[in-house]
Amino acid sequence: MKDKLKKALKPKRYQHSLGVAKTARILAQKYGANVEKAYIAGLLHDCAKLPDIKEQMKLAKKYGMEFDEVTLKCPAVIHAPLGARHAKEEYGITDKEILDAIEYHTVGRANMTLMDKIIYVADMIEPTRDFDGVEKLRKMADKSLDKVLKACLKQSIIHNIKKDSVVHPNTLEAWNYIMR
Ligand SMILES: [Fe+2]
Ligand SMILES: [Fe+2]
Repeated sequence: MKDKLKKALKPKRYQHSLGVAKTARILAQKYGANVEKAYIAGLLHDCAKLPDIKEQMKLAKKYGMEFDEVTLKCPAVIHAPLGARHAKEEYGITDKEILDAIEYHTVGRANMTLMDKIIYVADMIEPTRDFDGVEKLRKMADKSLDKVLKACLKQSIIHNIKKDSVVHPNTLEAWNYIMR
């Protein structure tokens, strides 16, 4: 899987993927998820984040995938559902827990599974991330997965609003679910 992934992604993206895999493994150990599944989900979460968005769209077309209007307005989101399909077709992953965690790693969803939460959080806090506040999130991840998930969703929503971007409805659903 690593050889194939290394060829498909830019070096920085590949390093990020290794970081997410390692961080996911640590979180799985801490919060009682399957450690091996977490590592694989982390490794492959960006497997469809091909350098060129046109290549991603080509891949989506090959799989006959169509996206709703909101998703098309945030092209950075496409690689997540596309990645779940690609992990299945290209990397032979059939485990639903892994595939779901890949599918929802960018926008989240209401009632996220333990594996969804682990990959979502690991993607944000892995060692190569260096945005303002990441250290605080890392410390939080050490104490409570739900608390850090909430903080990550908040960070993502605020980030999109500051950029005048669309906030994906799944992210709001994830947020509202937690708040309820
Ligand atoms: Fe991603
Ligand atoms: Fe990622």
